[in-house]
Amino acid sequence: MSGPILIFDSGVGGLSVVAAIRRRLPEVALGYACDNAMLPYGTKPDDWLVARILDVCQAAVAASHASALVVACNTASTLALEALRACLTIPVIGTVPAIKPAAAASASGHLALLATSATVHRPYTRRLIEDFAGDCEVMRVAADPLVAQAEQRLAGEPVDAGVVADCLAPLWTDPALDTVVLGCTHFPLLAAELASAAPRPIHWIDSGDAIARRVAQVVAPLPRGEGAGAAWVTAPSEALAAALAGYGFATPQGLVPATTAFEA
Ligand code: DGL
Repeated sequence: MSGPILIFDSGVGGLSVVAAIRRRLPEVALGYACDNAMLPYGTKPDDWLVARILDVCQAAVAASHASALVVACNTASTLALEALRACLTIPVIGTVPAIKPAAAASASGHLALLATSATVHRPYTRRLIEDFAGDCEVMRVAADPLVAQAEQRLAGEPVDAGVVADCLAPLWTDPALDTVVLGCTHFPLLAAELASAAPRPIHWIDSGDAIARRVAQVVAPLPRGEGAGAAWVTAPSEALAAALAGYGFATPQGLVPATTAFEA
């Protein structure tokens, strides 16, 4: 297919990846799809999530004629990459926590992974830590409330500094900690708030640039023009349209995947 590279997330988190891809590949055609009707993903059960992610991504790829799919969501990638690759014929690029660069960046060897509950507990994540940070102390901290804070920020609402402070509090119990992996694509959208809540300078490491490099390696030729700036969402709203417009995307179209809504 010759359409844009489609960036997918549960919500606005993928926009942090859009920004990183545009920094490295300013001319590339990008589309955006998100499943904001079912946000957040990070607290939902795995079996439901896999079916939902396959449904939404298949529908969005068909609607956009995407030439590649970037799963700009750690929660989805650490669970459903293989299943997505098995059912799509275009390249699928995932997002996983940047444990390896964080281990290289840390002087003390004390790191933390800040991510959703789902990502923090996944076997995939445990293997990443064993493989790439086996000689480091790695604290795993679930920070699901930061997802809603990032959504609020992009909707033009204030971020609650108390929520940010509570989410980060476990990190400061290790005085040697010097590096934090932002293992959820929503979190780089709160970079300023995270830095100002930290009691000392910290290396904050996300996966954005690594994904952009991977896109440049895997997608050839890079799509230009056709379908650039189109967007799809599962729950259209003015606030989301405004957030997407801030990153150059058109008013999103509604996407109706087959899976029924999640019943808590
Ligand atoms: N942005 C997603 C991630 O990278 C998760 C947000 C959610 O919980 O829906 O993990």
